[in-house]
Formats: sequence, structure tokens, C-alpha cells
Amino acid sequence: MTRKVLIAPSILSADFARLSEEVRAVEAAGADLLHLDVMDGHFVPNLTFGPPVIASLRPYTRLTFDVHLMIEAPDRYLEEFARAGADWLCVHAEACVHLHRTISRIKELGKKAGVALNPATPLSAVEWVLPDLDFVLVMSVNPGFGGQRFIPQATEKIRRLAHLIAEQGLAVKIQVDGGIGPETAGEVVSAGAEILVAGSAIFGKEDYASAIRAIREAAAVAQEEVS
Ligand code: DX5
Ligand code: ZN
Repeated sequence: MTRKVLIAPSILSADFARLSEEVRAVEAAGADLLHLDVMDGHFVPNLTFGPPVIASLRPYTRLTFDVHLMIEAPDRYLEEFARAGADWLCVHAEACVHLHRTISRIKELGKKAGVALNPATPLSAVEWVLPDLDFVLVMSVNPGFGGQRFIPQATEKIRRLAHLIAEQGLAVKIQVDGGIGPETAGEVVSAGAEILVAGSAIFGKEDYASAIRAIREAAAVAQEEVS
């Protein structure tokens, strides 16, 4: 059976002055999830938005909110993000001293829990928490900015993670974020990624529906080749 690949447009590359319209536009264009990049200027060298912006977008769409927290010590804010409307909460392994506790807290809040790994972070950072996770986010760029080039080692990292998940008989999903578009979607999907985050490859295009379709088609071709 072929796995369903989900496309998650990242609003980092959207027009922030027209965010609600942008969100509605990607929903109409066929997005599966909405990826929201929260940055604190400490964990990453950039600042974006926090819970109030997420809460004000919530009434505009039925899309699942996939919140990527690029912040130090995220435990301080989990409850607030949950209250603001986050459905999935993803923390960085590098930003959590007690990662297992953080994941447990996300689950207690009734949200799906994910852990993100920077390009240089080994898979062993999530090995012992894998059974507690809903997804692992493999960063294929250094977090902080949209429009960067895909780091090719991410593909092998996804492949090894997929083996680790299969070996343990788990249902953890693999998400990939950074430099994803029609040119890179195929290789990451062949390696085992099921959730593709894309910012500039969608919001940087005139026609969001055809941009999403192009990524979906590249993913589908890769799946046919594998099966
Ligand atoms: C980067 C963010 C990404 C970003 C991806 O730190 O986590 O979600 O929006 O942008 P693209 O798809 O343009 O590489
Ligand atoms: Zn992201």
C-alpha cells in the first residue's frame, strides 16, 4: 500500500500583511496541513510570531496547525501554543534538556508530538523517545530562514530513520523541512518521508495549486518507482 504523502505549506514565505488570505488560499489550493514556524531570535537567528498570531489565524481555516517551535526551552510556552490552536507541536531536540518530559507534556495537552533534528544532530538524539513520538522532523536546512538550499545528507538521514522506525515496529511519521520542492520531493519520499514542508516552493509561486500539484506529482513518481 502506498503511504499518503502530506504537503504542509510553511507560511514563513507568505505575505505577512495578508496572512489570513494566504492561509485560505493554500487551503483552497489543496494543502494538507499548515506549517507555522515560530522563531525566538535565540535558538535561531530570526524572529517570527508567537501564540497571538496563531490564535488569530485559527478561525480562518480548518487545516491542522503544525507548529514548528524553533525556540529555547519550549516547555515554558507549550500550554499557550496549545491554547492558541496548535494541533501538532514540534520541539527541537537541541533546545530541550529533558526531552522526554517535554514530549510527555505535549501529549498531556492532547496534541501530536514531534521532535526536530538540525542537520548536524545525530538520529541517536531521538532513538530512546521514538515510541513516544507521532513524528520526527528532519531539517534539510539550518533552521531560521526560508529559501535555502536542500542539504543532500538529509536523504540518507531519512532513510536510516525510516529503518529505525521499522525495526521497532512503530508508526512514527517522518517530516522533512527545508529546500523542498518538485526537484527534491522525490528523493526524500523514496527515502521514507511522508510529510513535506515547503515554503518558498509554494508561497514563492504565483499559482499555489499548481505549485502543490508539482510537489505531489514528484512524490507520486518516487512512490511508483519504489513499489
Ligand atoms: C526554516 C523553516 C522552514 C522554512 C522552509 O527554518 O523551518 O519551515 O519555511 O522554507 P523553504 O521551503 O523555502 O526552504
Ligand atoms: Zn519549519
